[in-house]
Amino acid sequence: MAYPIVRMRRLRGSETLRSMVRENRVSLDDLIYPLFAIYGENVKNPVPSMPGVYQMSVDNLVRECGEIVQLGIKAVLLFGIPEQKDEIASGAYDADGIVQQAIMAIKKAYPELYIITDVCLCEYTSHGHCGMIQGDRVLNDPTLHYLAETALSHAAAGADMVAPSDMMDGRVGAIRKKLDSHGFGHIPIMAYSAKYASAFYGPFRDVADSAPQFGDRKTYQMDPANGNEAIRETALDIEEGADMVMVKPGLAYLDLVRRVKDEFHYPTAVYNVSGEYSMVKAAAQKGWIDEKAVVMELLLSMKRAGGDLIITYHAKDAARWMGEK
Ligand code: PBG
Repeated sequence: MAYPIVRMRRLRGSETLRSMVRENRVSLDDLIYPLFAIYGENVKNPVPSMPGVYQMSVDNLVRECGEIVQLGIKAVLLFGIPEQKDEIASGAYDADGIVQQAIMAIKKAYPELYIITDVCLCEYTSHGHCGMIQGDRVLNDPTLHYLAETALSHAAAGADMVAPSDMMDGRVGAIRKKLDSHGFGHIPIMAYSAKYASAFYGPFRDVADSAPQFGDRKTYQMDPANGNEAIRETALDIEEGADMVMVKPGLAYLDLVRRVKDEFHYPTAVYNVSGEYSMVKAAAQKGWIDEKAVVMELLLSMKRAGGDLIITYHAKDAARWMGEK
């Protein structure tokens, strides 16, 4: 056997040295924590499929944000569960809607906490689709107006950034135009660019009460088999004015995170979605994996793949663990 001149193990000899040659790190700056606002007072509904995640009324959300700020997390992604749903998602762009109320209350209490809002209609439509429908078809162009109105109402309530997650063609351009013409030219858009029709969203639909009442989302979200299409989707969002792009889900799509990052060099977010969270939680509860080690390894994998920001339900735990060392 040839004498090994190069010994890779030399640089692995101690934790000090390993930390000196470490290529990637997860930091508090990377984490975005999703929150779910619901009407009522002192409501905190647990979500059985997502231990540790709750639907919260605005008063409790504000309290939660206190904890989030304390932990050093800088940004939240806000979702809303309306009281009533209808065909045209009225609750989504209501100036006094649940997300709009939550934004105002959180901003008042913690102005430094960065609020990103999910811009979509599926939580607000009676049929549970992300757009207007005609028969069993989800219409594209008529939906754009409602998405733009939703984004505008979020910005008007004080949101720092909007994140369209609907996957209608042309939504980023429609939102950009609407924001710009109403004095919100400074509000950035984080586009869910490569968003796949994924089974990993299952638990989210329990917490956001947003399961489609008929059919599925395959006519607007992407086919999991496709990679080149993600590049085209992302290119279009950038052309239309997206400031940041996103790949969603995360784990099963890390190849796309790398491709999107290498292709565009844009700030790239990764959504570590509900199903990914639930799998880890379930295995940890059974004692089959070391939750802390597994979560930190997963988050690190998203950074290594090229992700800049990670939207994750593990954010609070991760922040706590990072603070421990
Ligand atoms: C809204 C939306 C969804 C998610 C984020 N925004 C659900 C969906 O597209 O069905 C999923 C997030 C998660 O699973 O954690 N369209």
